[in-house]
Amino acid sequence: MAKMWAGRTDGTTEKIADDFNSSIRFDCRMYREDITGSMAHAAMLGAKGIISPADADTLIAGLEDILHDLDSGALAIDEECEDIHMFVEQVLTARLGDVGKKLHTARSRNDQVALDVRMYLRRECDGITDRVKRLIAAVTDKAEEYKEAILPGYTHLQRAQPILFGHHLMAYAMMLLRDLDRLSDCRRRTNVSPIGCCALAGTTYDTDRRFEAEKLGFDDICLNSLDGVSDRDFCVELMSALSLLMMHLSRFSEEIILWSSWEFKFVELSDAYTTGSSIMPQKKNPDMAELVRGKTGRVYGDLMALLTTLKGLPLAYNKDMQEDKESVFDACDTVKMCLDVFVGMIATMRANTDNMKTAAQRGFINATDLADYLVKKGLPFRSAYKIAGQLVARCLADGTVLEALPLATYREFSDLFDEDLYGEIDLVTCVEKRRSEGGTSRASVEAQIQFVREKIG
Ligand code: ARG
Repeated sequence: MAKMWAGRTDGTTEKIADDFNSSIRFDCRMYREDITGSMAHAAMLGAKGIISPADADTLIAGLEDILHDLDSGALAIDEECEDIHMFVEQVLTARLGDVGKKLHTARSRNDQVALDVRMYLRRECDGITDRVKRLIAAVTDKAEEYKEAILPGYTHLQRAQPILFGHHLMAYAMMLLRDLDRLSDCRRRTNVSPIGCCALAGTTYDTDRRFEAEKLGFDDICLNSLDGVSDRDFCVELMSALSLLMMHLSRFSEEIILWSSWEFKFVELSDAYTTGSSIMPQKKNPDMAELVRGKTGRVYGDLMALLTTLKGLPLAYNKDMQEDKESVFDACDTVKMCLDVFVGMIATMRANTDNMKTAAQRGFINATDLADYLVKKGLPFRSAYKIAGQLVARCLADGTVLEALPLATYREFSDLFDEDLYGEIDLVTCVEKRRSEGGTSRASVEAQIQFVREKIG
């Protein structure tokens, strides 16, 4: 096919070189951004008298038709074209003749592609933000549903202190809130227009970059043309925010996998979000959670790929930068899929509150509260800690638990012990007493739920 850039050379290239060079396979998904960007550009050219207002109108109408035809399927993407920018311009020129050739005045593919990617990612940011909000809502609803269920909280994956399941779930809501914050921060820096930077140095035409930026919903324009065409920070930032988000989802996944194991049996995933084994009839596998955990590596990989591509690149545009798209598109696609499946998985997950309670009763997770009991009776914490530890050892030796140990045995260790100790080490009391802000008491969990709901609106 004849190249639009034929001139200095006759544009004849080897097929293998064309295939290697071409990006239309993956940048065709930006056709909407490319066309609306071009419509704003044509409008600016007309408004500034760089082309006639009539030509501008013709270009805009022609672009609108192309958009409509691509949307409806009447026009198919021609994979022989080098990229989406060339494709649109080629169709426009085929339909409008010479007027079509005026569109590319005072711009370059370098600022055009930067514009398209920014517009595309801004939309992706919004789509991902909506999904994160939906997940936060699902997690918060679950926390509310199980706000009274007690389970062991763990450190080192060893039973540590009793907590409410709602409290545990709200920890994830807090992480996801930070993810929302990062996405909005990233969107703010993405929403700056590079169009008008042209190839690298700006243009001799009397353009109005702010006119175009405003028409396309940007908050500002890139203030240095070299930076405008070579900046891909916003792609890296988005993938970095997405990597963190995936890290959160993978930690959540890991817990769901553990909790749904026969060893824990704390939760039961809906059949709709699990799979069976082809050989072991008893199996119900948490594949969705495992895949999310697995895909986290893929998103980290996308981030590392682009960071590595950009490392040491001289200014301004280099073809290496075409590699930005596959990474960032893959990261967005992956994250959206993971979030969608996660929302359903969480919304349909059921907690086995009896098993949680049993686990909470058997792990001496009220030993801290036993020590605190003695502290409140006047003993220094370190001495109280030691006695509580000795009592745990005694229980283990006697095959019993703190709640069942007779008062007489307690008294062997300290005469500060009284009947009221049993109330103090009751698991519900242990949880309820943790009223410090952000603690696991029911009031605190309710406050967290309310805070998060207000945040997500
Ligand atoms: N397909 C290219 C990309 O994705 C568009 C920019 C091409 N610019 C150039 N000077 N060859 O980066």
